[in-house]
Amino acid sequence: MSPLNINHWILLLAFSASSLGSGAAEDILENNSSTGHFRVCWNGDPTAEATIAWTQFEGAPGTVYFGTTDQGRRHHLYELKQATHRATEYDGIIQCFARLEELKPDTDYFFCIEDGKGVSPRLKFRTAPDTPQPITFISGGDSRNNRAARIGANLICRQLRPLFVAFTGDMISSDNAKDWRAWLEDWQKMIDDDGNIIPIVAHRGNHERRPLTIYHYFDTPKDAYYAFSIGGSLFRYYALNSEIPADGAQGEWLAKDLKASRESVTHLVAGYHKPMRPHVSKKSEGKNPFLWARTFYENGLDLGIESDSHVVKWTQPIKPDPQGDEGFAHAPNDPNATVFIGEGCWGAPLRDANDKKSWTVDAASFNAIDWIKVTSEGMTIRTVDVDKSSGLKAVEETSSYASPEGLSLWTSKLGDELKISAD
Ligand SMILES: [Fe+2]
Repeated sequence: MSPLNINHWILLLAFSASSLGSGAAEDILENNSSTGHFRVCWNGDPTAEATIAWTQFEGAPGTVYFGTTDQGRRHHLYELKQATHRATEYDGIIQCFARLEELKPDTDYFFCIEDGKGVSPRLKFRTAPDTPQPITFISGGDSRNNRAARIGANLICRQLRPLFVAFTGDMISSDNAKDWRAWLEDWQKMIDDDGNIIPIVAHRGNHERRPLTIYHYFDTPKDAYYAFSIGGSLFRYYALNSEIPADGAQGEWLAKDLKASRESVTHLVAGYHKPMRPHVSKKSEGKNPFLWARTFYENGLDLGIESDSHVVKWTQPIKPDPQGDEGFAHAPNDPNATVFIGEGCWGAPLRDANDKKSWTVDAASFNAIDWIKVTSEGMTIRTVDVDKSSGLKAVEETSSYASPEGLSLWTSKLGDELKISAD
């Protein structure tokens, strides 16, 4: 071979390597492994940890290959790998969990799963920042049985690219294999053409009838209550479990953690399934979650995200008051007061919002998710009308809050944004 020919081959090899390395869109989402139903779960410290979850349809549990450099589906080129920590047969399929640790904050991680048969799609997620900077997240729950609305909401999440999704329970109608497989399939619609997958913070609802369902699909702690911080002192999130006693061990843990955080953290937010005061008259009052009301108030919890009733609501900042309307009073200038939003319209049968209180800003009934921006100055809530949003253009990057064309926001009596100032 002449020197000219050698150079030619070197150039050709370099070109092939660089085109593979770009993770070309037509290539990265291929899957010749026996893995599927991908999820990234945040159950610990999201600035440094994430759990990769998937269904292993056949064969031995795979291994996650990952790193901060995109190697496409060429798993052997990734700098790091993590074997499955836990593989459990649940509902007749194997759920695998690989917990990634010692990740860098505010960084894109690329990963794929190799299982002996082949390689999964190359997916990508962003870790949370550990210093204060603006973030967005989406909250919502009750995706039970209307798959069209559920998929519609999932596709909106994909285009809005929040840092994470807080899913406040009742993913499924029946807590069985059929419903879960459908839900897991629909969750994949959130993955975009570049393999971006949005981390989920999973909560238990009453339709997660089996106490360990959320643990078996999302690797949460077994009793499904936990907390984490984002942006250092910016934000702390509590995933609570309204399906077990709100007092006792959970209540003590919550009070202790809030007390330790209230002075140092700007925004304290809690999500849980059953509302304290449902905005649907036929729903009974949330006696169990109401046990948290005083703890929230004493520690200045800023935002409570509720679900279960299948309506949309925003409240004023309120505080517990035995003389108030259903145990709460409007407390506009009280830095300890809490705003509540919800209540679960991710595809469940809609109900009439026929139980508004004196402290309700507004309530309505349509398929919806809440899009929330958190900055050092405050939090802003926008409620997205899923059915009226169409042809949505994706936002340019994770945690952008620029409303894309095609997005339809709820116009409440207060307008299309609810603001909570930092106090
Ligand atoms: Fe429910």
